[in-house]
Amino acid sequence: MDVKPESLPKHVGIIMDGNGRWAKKRGLLRSKGHKEGAKTFREIGEYAADIGIKYLTFYAFSTENWNRSPEEVAAIMNLFREYLEEAKEREGENEEKQLRLRFIGDKSRLPDDINALIKEAEESTEKHNRVFINIAINYGGRAEIVEAAKKIAELAAKGELRPEDIKEQTLSDLMYTANQPDPDLIIRPSGEYRTSNFLVWQSAYAEYVFTDVLWPDFTCDDFDRCIQIYARRNRRFGG
Ligand code: IPE
Ligand code: IPE
Ligand code: MG
Repeated sequence: MDVKPESLPKHVGIIMDGNGRWAKKRGLLRSKGHKEGAKTFREIGEYAADIGIKYLTFYAFSTENWNRSPEEVAAIMNLFREYLEEAKEREGENEEKQLRLRFIGDKSRLPDDINALIKEAEESTEKHNRVFINIAINYGGRAEIVEAAKKIAELAAKGELRPEDIKEQTLSDLMYTANQPDPDLIIRPSGEYRTSNFLVWQSAYAEYVFTDVLWPDFTCDDFDRCIQIYARRNRRFGG
């Protein structure tokens, strides 16, 4: 990786897409594609942390993904279970690397056992402060904004917040990513050119890099290439 540390993005978001097509190409079940995608997620997460990316957000399951077949949803939920069980065994490593895990999205719709595992993973890493990994599960950017709007309305109704005091920061502070910088770079593999409801509020000035590689085939070299493309971009923020 020949990008200067100061040119690295602080926060990278990844839309982990293309698992189904990867499996289809090989005549396999979609669930096999998700299994391979989960391996890629572990590899890229580890690699990105090692090269000094401080904040990472992985889009794993959207609010719309419940519309998949029950078999597919169940297979994905099982992969979350596996990952979370494994996170327990990695407690030592997470501490050594100072990795903090957070699960963002509306967790109320997830099975209870997954919620319990999430709680454990979040609590066991909550003091870690070198690398922050967000995993978006039952996440929708619009739903996130709606929740923020509800909280603001509640505060206003109680007389604790005046409409004229509502600022952009007020909303940022109510997002799941409160206290984290907005994503600098969002990577979408699989050849789709859309954001599919990912970090809608936070991505106002994010740089996007799209690649045709399907997520299970995505390698550390592909990640490097995305970072290099990002480093050559000229961000102006409207100025
Ligand atoms: C991404 O892969 C994983 C999830 C959305 C859960 P897809 O399952 O969307 O794969 P494609 O887009 O059908 O290839
Ligand atoms: C986006 O991928 C969601 C995740 C990767 C978790 P989708 O496959 O759900 O998005 P669309 O349907 O192509 O927009
Ligand atoms: Mg897809």
